[in-house]
Amino acid sequence: MVTVSKQTPRQSLTVVDNRTNKVYEIPIKQNSVLATDFKKIKAQKGDDREEDETEQGLRVYDPAYMNTAVVQSKITYINGQDGVLRYRGYPIEQLVKKSNFLETAFLLIYGELPTKSQFNNWQNEVMHHTFVHSDIEGMFKSFRYDSHPMSMLASAFATLGAFAPEANPSLKGQKLYTNAASGNPEALQILDRQILRIIGKAPTLAAASYRMRQGRPFNRPAHGLSYTGNFLYLLDHLSGHEYQPHPVLEQALDALFIIHADHEVNCSTATVLQVGSSLVDPYSVVSAGCAALYGPSHGGASESAIRMLMEIGSPEKVPGFMAQVERRERVLVGFGHRVYKNVDPRSTAIRALAERVFAVTGRNRLLDTATALAAYARKSEFMRARNLYPNVDFYSGLIYQAMGFPLDFYPVLFAVPRCVGWLAHWRQMMLNPAGVKIWRPRQLYVGESARDYVDPEERKAGETVFDAPVPVQHGDDSKRNELASYKDERGQTWGRAKL
Ligand SMILES: CC(C)(COP(=O)(O)OP(=O)(O)OC[C@H]1O[C@@H](n2cnc3c(N)ncnc32)[C@H](O)[C@@H]1OP(=O)(O)O)[C@@H](O)C(=O)NCCC(=O)NCCS
Repeated sequence: MVTVSKQTPRQSLTVVDNRTNKVYEIPIKQNSVLATDFKKIKAQKGDDREEDETEQGLRVYDPAYMNTAVVQSKITYINGQDGVLRYRGYPIEQLVKKSNFLETAFLLIYGELPTKSQFNNWQNEVMHHTFVHSDIEGMFKSFRYDSHPMSMLASAFATLGAFAPEANPSLKGQKLYTNAASGNPEALQILDRQILRIIGKAPTLAAASYRMRQGRPFNRPAHGLSYTGNFLYLLDHLSGHEYQPHPVLEQALDALFIIHADHEVNCSTATVLQVGSSLVDPYSVVSAGCAALYGPSHGGASESAIRMLMEIGSPEKVPGFMAQVERRERVLVGFGHRVYKNVDPRSTAIRALAERVFAVTGRNRLLDTATALAAYARKSEFMRARNLYPNVDFYSGLIYQAMGFPLDFYPVLFAVPRCVGWLAHWRQMMLNPAGVKIWRPRQLYVGESARDYVDPEERKAGETVFDAPVPVQHGDDSKRNELASYKDERGQTWGRAKL
């Protein structure tokens, strides 16, 4: 045990390195310590491996970022213990009740609620940027009819970048966006124009991925509708004039967009910042965000939650399914969260919305199973011990399904509003007065130490299934192809049977 003499409390850690008996004082700021301060703690190499780089200073090991803050941010605050979510200080519950998506988008990106004239201008500008180049429609048409819409959306954002060479730092200079940090009006204009273009075009691209699946022609953006009203128009309008979405569904989608707009440094936002730190263009950044969001542990969860409820089938099958979860054979999708160890405030807001939507669309037939599952989970010792509560994705899928969206479109319905959060964080990063440092984490190397190249005749095969590729089946090959033989460019004969 180390005895530390009593001193007046101060904002620091006293660290004793027992390898060297040296004492370090590490400052604490905002209840955090700087990882680079630990790098000053060095020792001579002893029995440790050369790859541990002991002489270069202590490293901070945090797989999966379990306790690492990577940015200082003014955008969103989450308190996972108390179930709090605030955008720029405003509680999510108030925004869902009183704001609209575009107003909340302005708040997230620019820091304050817009004045009336700021809002009108912002809305006009966003809606002005809803059109996409007609060649992008051609890009959508080159996809297979059954492509997952998230594949199409991620590709579409990357493609959009190809249509904006003036927005590409690789072509226009590395400082294209970071110059804006000094308040340079031209640089700020270039930066904000891309934000408008991405937010404006996101529904158009998302709707194209949907219409492509339906085999329906793409709609052109409509004027005079709200952001979400226009999105519904792009998705659903068939023919005739004066399409008006049902006001309850439009409002519900708008509220869902507010709820999904940002969520601090989650997996996709961390991806956005990681990719953005290389100073690549924002279209590539948003495309990378889509890729991260697509995964079933993140934005893919609402789709998986509904598939799981369909698989369970009815309330009386819930105990059997939960037994599998408690035996750790299954994951209860739509439950648990890295930060919330209490109720997810978004799920509370969504439940109220669900009732309003079901009053118009009819009750979702999976609701009884979902309710039984939530009730069972509340009492389950396994779930309680791990603080696993329903998250936003448990209920959002039920609303999307009641509104008639196909399952694989749910992550797209998450990605469109999340573009706002991604761009808010990306803008904050580009405007950092201290500049943008490339995000380059380190690893703890635990592999082989230096060894000499081994000639083929002296090599031994590895011992486990992981040490070489497993034999793979050749899917679509016919028996005739399997039995045929071929000559390669050098005239050597080979047959599939030999492979
Ligand atoms: C969201 C999620 C990825 C967070 O993961 P995490 O912070 O790394 O949490 P962990 O995996 O460390 O989980 C802690 C414990 O709870 C268990 N657990 C976490 N989520 C669980 C779930 N949904 N169902 C069953 N068990 C779960 C883990 O197995 C682990 O158990 P252990 O301590 O006995 O090993 C995880 O809860 C999950 O996969 N949820 C389902 C997918 C989902 O709904 N995602 C959307 C999030 S908004």
